Amino acid sequence: MPATLKYHFWRRVRAAHYAFGLARLPFGRVLERAVGQWERAQGFGDSPKEKATWDAEYGDGRWAYIAQLHENSRYWTIIGYMDAFRGGGEYLDVGCGDGVLFSRFKALGYQRYVGIDISEVAIRQLQCHNDDRTHFAQGDGDVHEPDGLFDVIVFNESLYYLKDPVGSLERYARSLKPGGCIIVSTYTNSRRSLAVLREAKTKLTVVDEAKTSQGSMSWLCTVLKPANAGMA
Ligand SMILES: C[S@@+](CC[C@H](N)C(=O)[O-])C[C@H]1O[C@@H](n2cnc3c(N)ncnc32)[C@H](O)[C@@H]1O
Repeated sequence: MPATLKYHFWRRVRAAHYAFGLARLPFGRVLERAVGQWERAQGFGDSPKEKATWDAEYGDGRWAYIAQLHENSRYWTIIGYMDAFRGGGEYLDVGCGDGVLFSRFKALGYQRYVGIDISEVAIRQLQCHNDDRTHFAQGDGDVHEPDGLFDVIVFNESLYYLKDPVGSLERYARSLKPGGCIIVSTYTNSRRSLAVLREAKTKLTVVDEAKTSQGSMSWLCTVLKPANAGMA
């Protein structure tokens, strides 16, 4: 098949896969893996990438824009929920990047803040904050085993970069204290991120959700609890 035709073929398959949730069908997981491989080969901005790619992107300042004013409102929406579900004040930030969320949140205070990110380049910028209550470490969110239990676990524009996002979400939910919640921020211009969120909502209970928009961009901030947890 000529390269352009092949590209358009896979683009359509990808669109159908996310629009109709084809992963649920027989052989759906095979299709999901094939779409994932194709996305990675194409370097899609919203699908899993290798550690080296993230390191290179943080190294050349590719992600510096998220600290700018136009992303501010979505951070404060997340922080509002982090504060509302504060409990004992123990937070886990999966895919914390170079700490834009932490830098805005920290003034509110916390008992424990743990951040992990696949990118060593990003994490290195945060390790100066490490102390007896704060711990930033390089780690792969797909396999990371949280240490202890948390009141709030945040996936701030990071869940859809995991290879098994919803499986991981369910695994992290087991590291919540009773009454704890997971906060997921989702960029709505991405088919993959919306499909991941849709599936996540079938496995966990939605407690609340807010939408923030800025020009043509918007983000959903969703608060989830394990399906068997009460809503309080
Ligand atoms: C769009 S950035 C968001 C960064 C940060 N949460 C923020 O909004 O300020 C996505 C982040 O997810 C991280 N990431 C991607 N795949 C990951 C994985 N498998 N495990 C942990 N972090 C990952 C990236 O390194 C990057 O920092």
